[in-house]
Amino acid sequence: MDGAYDDRDGKIWLDGKMVDWREANVHILTHAMHYASSVFEGERCYNGKIFKSREHSERLRKSAQYLDFEIPYSVDAIETAKYEMLKANGWTDAYVRAVAWRGAGPDMGVSAARNPVRLAIAGWEWGNYYGDAKMQGAKLDISKWKRPSPETIPVHAKAAGLYMICTTSKHAAEAKGCSDALFMDYRGYVAEATGANIFFVKDGEVHTPLADCFLNGLTRQTVIGMLKDKGLTVHERHIMPEELEGFEQCWLTGTAAEVTPVGQIGDYTFEVGALTREISEDYEKLVRA
Ligand SMILES: Cc1ncc(COP(=O)(O)O)c(C=O)c1O
Repeated sequence: MDGAYDDRDGKIWLDGKMVDWREANVHILTHAMHYASSVFEGERCYNGKIFKSREHSERLRKSAQYLDFEIPYSVDAIETAKYEMLKANGWTDAYVRAVAWRGAGPDMGVSAARNPVRLAIAGWEWGNYYGDAKMQGAKLDISKWKRPSPETIPVHAKAAGLYMICTTSKHAAEAKGCSDALFMDYRGYVAEATGANIFFVKDGEVHTPLADCFLNGLTRQTVIGMLKDKGLTVHERHIMPEELEGFEQCWLTGTAAEVTPVGQIGDYTFEVGALTREISEDYEKLVRA
């Protein structure tokens, strides 16, 4: 299946019903279109089982609460809906995209408490997020934008508004031949990529930015657990950009990225080393276990 994302065969779960793909539409005066009142999840189903499915559904509901709206479906109902969508499309291996938003209603301004909250769950078949970077190591640009302070925006929500600078940063990176961009945060510390968290290796120990102003990814948490189970030391801490020079290995983690080695960030280079390969392979086994 390919082509534009609004012009495909298949089914999408929308507000409690399975609808034909091309009929899953919203009105132009949808609040979310104008004011970014939208939250979403990215999940992957492997061999018929969505990895960390409940955790994703719980995060979706929590993200909505950060934006001051309540999704009118329980975690159990969201779980059922995701698997119904997969079944209706005949998929056992797919990316799953749940999205909840404030729809069109009596309010069309900043305040929108009376507008209905809507939920859709779609999916598609998707391979490697960074193409062949899984083997060679992705090349990252450094974004001119910074991850914002928790005092300026709900940084722990997976909310559409937080992706505005991700899209512009990724466009700038791709124009330079890079696959993604790395953000520093508002204090100047290394933060994350546009849709993935980051890890570094030095002298057999692992370092990863403290998730105090960006999404503490489910993959990040899983990988930290895997590393600790191997007896490795993981430092979750503030990392200065000058430290990039001293790190030997680097990888990204995320539902879409899985564990993707990084070969270059700006002028700094990293080897796709043994630990990077091991964690990447272990993660692939874990999600299919
Ligand atoms: C900005 C951002 N950071 C980190 C992540 C990684 O999160 P997860 O591992 O839960 O997919 C994602 C992906 O959802 C993301 O979009």
